[in-house]
Amino acid sequence: MSTSHTNVGDAQVPAKLAIPELLDMKRQGTRIAMVTAYDSAGARLAEAAGVDIVLVGDSAAMVVLGHDSTLPVTMDEMLFMTRSVSRAVEHPLVVGDMPFGAYQVSDADAVRNAIRFVKEGGADTVKLEGAGRMLPRVRSIVESGIPVMGHLGLTPQSVTALGGYKAQGRTAAKAKRLLEDALALQEAGCYSLVLEAVPTPVASRITEALTIPTIGIGAGPACDGQVLVYHDLLGLTEGHTARFVKRYADLATVIREALAAFVADVRSGAYPEERHTYGMPADELAAFEADLGNPVA
Ligand code: KIV
Repeated sequence: MSTSHTNVGDAQVPAKLAIPELLDMKRQGTRIAMVTAYDSAGARLAEAAGVDIVLVGDSAAMVVLGHDSTLPVTMDEMLFMTRSVSRAVEHPLVVGDMPFGAYQVSDADAVRNAIRFVKEGGADTVKLEGAGRMLPRVRSIVESGIPVMGHLGLTPQSVTALGGYKAQGRTAAKAKRLLEDALALQEAGCYSLVLEAVPTPVASRITEALTIPTIGIGAGPACDGQVLVYHDLLGLTEGHTARFVKRYADLATVIREALAAFVADVRSGAYPEERHTYGMPADELAAFEADLGNPVA
């Protein structure tokens, strides 16, 4: 995807990816790359790599904050991370993931919290999970002027009701329900839809049926785009990862070895070397030493 630019004074800065451009990408068959990020460093690297959408996912609860599900992360924690991401990027859309509790209670609550993502977090759009009871929430947020990304299939905020982190839509009836929910979310105004852990043929039929792009995670190659969690794709997550995760690096090993080398250098005195230190003019040093030898009374 070529990035358009806008002029700011003499400088050319990459223009923000517009939602109509995202819809064009689907029409033209240009696949959309989305990744999660939770801080400025990660977001900056994602933009440099050509990512189209940066999702400040509520997966932060697990990969950043160390919880064992996505449920505990709060609005304030999500806003803190969203601010640092949105400050760092120019072109990619920044999507704030509405955490559990931020939109379940009422439409008014959902709109209030979506507005906080935009006003306080600098997000361009928000994402929320589910259809059914959530459709009025989507409509209300869209009516307030904030674009909404939907999320169907394995919706981690409902992990208890779903009976664990399992693929969804694996019976004819459940697949049909997923397709109906996807169409209902499009009808409610979503501009795109995440499909998580859904059989490939089901994701393919949903992608064909929708005019908005689908972004898959464990939903096969027919989706209009793909998303992975930053820590998973970079190999920062250790232990079990989902079947759909592809590791593009083993940063945990790189980081562990670098930290161990630092500890060893500190213990042995090999760090710091002369080149890591600061000197001072000889006459100033002499004066300092003389002063120490002859303290002023
Ligand atoms: O929170 C998250 O990271 C997500 C992605 C897995 C889509 O919702």
